[in-house]
Amino acid sequence: MPPTATPSQVESAQAESAAKSKKAKAKPDLRFKRLDITMKRHQHQPDALIEVLHVAQEAFGFLEEDVLQHIAHGLKLPLSKVYGVATFYHLFSLKPSGAHTCVVCMGTACYVKGGDKVMEKLQTELGIELGETTPDGKVSLMAARCLGACGIAPAVVFDGTVGGKLSPEQAVAKIKAWEGE
Ligand code: FES
Repeated sequence: MPPTATPSQVESAQAESAAKSKKAKAKPDLRFKRLDITMKRHQHQPDALIEVLHVAQEAFGFLEEDVLQHIAHGLKLPLSKVYGVATFYHLFSLKPSGAHTCVVCMGTACYVKGGDKVMEKLQTELGIELGETTPDGKVSLMAARCLGACGIAPAVVFDGTVGGKLSPEQAVAKIKAWEGE
């Protein structure tokens, strides 16, 4: 920036550097990496679809469109085929109906660090069981078996953003923030 920068130049330079540092801090979603590793292990063969869907369900708690698209692309299958299989088998669940989703990791690392307590507290607070949506349609509560973020256990994904080292109270505070919307 020139030494005689105008206030608007200063502002835009600040905005640019804030955007850059935000970008630098954004971590890649390791769950997609896990899918990529699984697809690679199967040499991207279309007949690995069910296994890949299993891994996706475990990692994400449910199958959202971007995940299904990622799999379709990775296995070179039409999205309709991937959708067809995901909806045919009851063991796969598509995106729940709540306006917000809360996915609690119940994998070993998270469980031993209190993931089960987080889940219990959320169930009590929301008045619903795992896999259900609150009657007002606001929050769906799901579980995953490893988010690939064991280092920050216990981990919970709030609307696609992974939160780590959460106490049950902190997890409740996050969903309470949705209440006023
Ligand atoms: S067990 Fe929870 S992130 Fe791995």
